[in-house]
Amino acid sequence: MSVKVNEKYLEGFVSQEEIKKIAPIAKEAFSLVKNHNGAGSSMLGWLTLPEDYNRDEFYRIKKAAEKIRKTCDVFLVIGIGGSYLGARAAIEFLKSPIYNSIRGNDPEVYFVGNSISPSSISDILKVCDGKDICINAISKSGTTTEPAVAFRIFREYLEKKYGEEKARERIYVTTDRAKGKLKEFSTKKGYETFVVPDDIGGRYSVLSAVGLLPIAVAGCDIDELLRGALDAKNEYSDFSMDNACVKYAALRNILYGSGKSIEILASYEPALQMLSEWWKQLFGESEGKDKKSLFPASVMFSTDLHSLGQYIQDGTRNIFETVIDIKKSKDNVTVPYDQFDVDGLNFLSGNDFNDINHKAMLATLIAHNDGGVPNIVLELEDRSEYSLGYLFYFFELSCAISGYILGVNPFNQPGVEAYKKNMFALLGKPGYEEHKKELETRIK
Ligand code: PA5
Repeated sequence: MSVKVNEKYLEGFVSQEEIKKIAPIAKEAFSLVKNHNGAGSSMLGWLTLPEDYNRDEFYRIKKAAEKIRKTCDVFLVIGIGGSYLGARAAIEFLKSPIYNSIRGNDPEVYFVGNSISPSSISDILKVCDGKDICINAISKSGTTTEPAVAFRIFREYLEKKYGEEKARERIYVTTDRAKGKLKEFSTKKGYETFVVPDDIGGRYSVLSAVGLLPIAVAGCDIDELLRGALDAKNEYSDFSMDNACVKYAALRNILYGSGKSIEILASYEPALQMLSEWWKQLFGESEGKDKKSLFPASVMFSTDLHSLGQYIQDGTRNIFETVIDIKKSKDNVTVPYDQFDVDGLNFLSGNDFNDINHKAMLATLIAHNDGGVPNIVLELEDRSEYSLGYLFYFFELSCAISGYILGVNPFNQPGVEAYKKNMFALLGKPGYEEHKKELETRIK
């Protein structure tokens, strides 16, 4: 069981010469990752995390998850970017995009602090009404505006509801090991804390406490998740152009070099919608710098075949797709026979939706190829914890290799600061007075 890169739908788009030409560059990129001597190499902790994770903390995560599952109806995960997307992607992938409606006895899980929308805060406060709540505030820096202001609100809510002493038992914080205001504050308040390792950036942190606690609270098997990631780590540890991570990284760079500036991640399973969001952050924030790189976009098929499908088939020819093909579905549903055959679809009666979905994928791959869109197909066994751990690791390693092939530092995100600086100035943060004046003349 692993991630298989199926190149069939690249025929006519990527040549053997191009693969030969990129091979030494890919080899060098792989070696920069493995030997920790590329840009940003102090942030490679995720590379060995599946084998050298902190066992004591892992045990505490499981204990905390058990307690949360027993004592709360609603679990709020407060975080943004890499401190949010992985956990949400995993819960939807492993359970369902409508997990909260079909969760059985598991707690409801909501993600807050990932926007500044007052409506989303108000909605979640309504959900909390009359229920027992636990919170996991996640922020490596501890000072990110969106989660920090949400944490203020929900901390106050819990303290009012339970009193400060009892609220302490319901608040969990995932942040830096030692430094930062949030760590200091949590120690003072006596909250149980978990660590975002120093050498792991947000978007590579899903297999650390950042992702593991919320994923475990939703009743998913985090041992299996890490087992999948460990098997991926072992499988992808040596360079070869047949190493799936190297292959994927090389192919997307070849396609980029041939004028395809947009990569669309496509899947045929709505449970992968948030995984696509996680993937967009991983590749977008890792590669989108120095005025170059692919733009990572996503679609959900067949839903989006009735919207963006037109553009993909027929619009500007600057795109390629990467399709995640899940081999085994969790469920089976059969099309019923209709004696009136009003829709003319009785030829489908008795067919499993999985077969129809699979045929839709094959039909689309051919149609998009005919329309001039190359497709990389990533085959994954199923929607198990094991497969997801494998896939997370596959994408993380592919992204690091791909970033080095492109010639960027895949581990920093200097561009994220620009909006923050302006926002703080416009909001009147002390120290930003001059910048505020300058911006105000520009928005008049
Ligand atoms: O990948 C990243 O580093 C970012 O997306 C961060 O995760 C995000 O900005 C949140 O940062 P923090 O965890 O410090 O609140």
